[in-house]
Amino acid sequence: MHNLVGLPPSLVLVLVTVLGAIAYVFLKGYFIRRQFARAHGCQPVARSANKDPFFGLDMIPGTIRALKENRLIARTPEFYRRYGNTHTVRGLISQQIATIEPENIKTVLSLNFKDYRLGFRLPSFKPLLGEGIFDTDGEQWASSRALIRPSFSRDQVADLTTLENLIQDLFALLPRDGRTVDLQELFFQYTIDSATEFLFGQSVGTLKKSQSEQSERGFAEAFYNAQKAILTRGIPFPLKFFFSHDEAEAEKYNQICRTFVQQFVDEAFQAVELKKPETEQSDSETKRRKRIFSHELAARTTDRTRVLDELMNVLLAGRDTTASLLSNLFFVLAKDPAIWEKLQREVAFLEGRPPTYTELNNMKYVQCCMNESLRLHPVVPRNQREAIRDTVLPVGGGTDGLSPVFVSKGTFVSYNVYAMHRRADIYGPDAEIFRPERWEDGKLQPRWGYLPFNGGPRICIGQRYALTEAGYVIVRMAQEFRVLESRDPGPWEESRGLTVTSRNGTKVALTAD
Ligand code: HEM
Ligand SMILES: *[C@@H]1O[C@H](CO)[C@@H](O)[C@H](O)[C@H]1NC(C)=O
Ligand SMILES: *[C@@H]1O[C@H](CO)[C@@H](O)[C@H](O)[C@H]1NC(C)=O
Repeated sequence: MHNLVGLPPSLVLVLVTVLGAIAYVFLKGYFIRRQFARAHGCQPVARSANKDPFFGLDMIPGTIRALKENRLIARTPEFYRRYGNTHTVRGLISQQIATIEPENIKTVLSLNFKDYRLGFRLPSFKPLLGEGIFDTDGEQWASSRALIRPSFSRDQVADLTTLENLIQDLFALLPRDGRTVDLQELFFQYTIDSATEFLFGQSVGTLKKSQSEQSERGFAEAFYNAQKAILTRGIPFPLKFFFSHDEAEAEKYNQICRTFVQQFVDEAFQAVELKKPETEQSDSETKRRKRIFSHELAARTTDRTRVLDELMNVLLAGRDTTASLLSNLFFVLAKDPAIWEKLQREVAFLEGRPPTYTELNNMKYVQCCMNESLRLHPVVPRNQREAIRDTVLPVGGGTDGLSPVFVSKGTFVSYNVYAMHRRADIYGPDAEIFRPERWEDGKLQPRWGYLPFNGGPRICIGQRYALTEAGYVIVRMAQEFRVLESRDPGPWEESRGLTVTSRNGTKVALTAD
């Protein structure tokens, strides 16, 4: 006897059993999730930024237009005004929940940290960085963080003597007669010089090379190109067609960078070998000696690849970020002489000498300016995490957006610091304006509503280093140059890079007395 589709009964039985089992597992999962969501009082997120529920194809034309107009980040606050502080974005890869609610961000980054991972970062970054603190997750990340943390735990991480030497290299390149100069380029040189000195104990000296007009920038150039490749490597599938990416060429730059840094790793292990026998007698001697990051890592592990990877990770995390902060800040300062004059009044008590670490930290207005720049132009404007188990966000569900939201395993939660930092209900009606004074009386404490350095267990480990380095440049520049004027007729526009910085550079004119 044959049934309707002409299959033998035994096969039908097997098929029905298999399908039944699949349906059972599926439905069971569905009901467990539904029950979990109910138990937590979850409501669905009411609005979505796109209509096409499968591929998010309707988002593509707008994205391409925004790319062309360099408004990829600048347009996002509008999305949140239109679709709510928490909404969904549907794309080819997966469903995403986008949020600018401080409570949600706190939950993802801190309270429920263990429910999330980075998601896509490792594949894009690994060819250059290997596996380290910035691009790994879970146990591996925790062990990286533990390895590195002691080198940042000191009160004074950045060495002011080193920074002062580099300031002199920078000043040597700055015209003092009101000619136009692009500070951005020089800030990027400044930060690669200081980062390499800090990490390897020896600066690549790009500012010095510029003075002697050597055009070869070797490592810095390769690092720039390798970073550009990270960006194109990570572009998701439908947009990929609009960008060129040459993996073979990228690999060439990766190898230049890694080979260059490998020398310092080898040198660090040699130094540690040599130092071993004498450590006990000359404890005071080691205290006086300059602390070198690579040597400290080499003393804590025997794994050379690991030290190389961590150095690459910290270099990438620390270099462009600080340079971008300085570029963005000076772009804005150059357009507002009143702020520059106020900075000069604050540094006047030094009578031209460099500040000490304590003096630098106590300069309120310098700190306000950095806070304000990182608010209006956060250099890491967007970020995301992937849920690794079913979990819950505290707000954003239901039509009023006040109920908890169910986040199923595999969902991405993206958060937009740029848009959050422009929320009028957090910062007031002038949230779009650069006004350092808003930080002055210490009453503005947005906590998780202000997040330039991230928060929770993965908070930026170099925050203090960055603020010391940037603050030092601001103070020394304010001491040196009476007049700072913009030579850029347009408004600040975003660049497209791993960090966000002024697209048109930081073109200014400086006048010394
Ligand atoms: C203005 C300058 C800086 C800003 C705005 C900044 C911002 C950030 C942000 C937002 C993250 C979190 C990334 C994520 O988890 O997705 C981060 C992580 C990190 N930053 Fe910074 N950073 C700056 C400077 C530095 C400096 C100077 C260093 C090192 C010398 C540094 C080292 C790191 C490292 C190693 C991580 C990874 C930490 C971890 O995942 O455990 N950063 N930074
Ligand atoms: C800058 O922002 C941080 C983080 O909100 C805050 O703790 C600090 O007090 C601010 N600094 C100044 C000078 O307002
Ligand atoms: C960029 O700078 C140049 C001057 O160097 C200026 O002519 C141009 O208008 C600027 N572009 C924008 C968008 O501001």
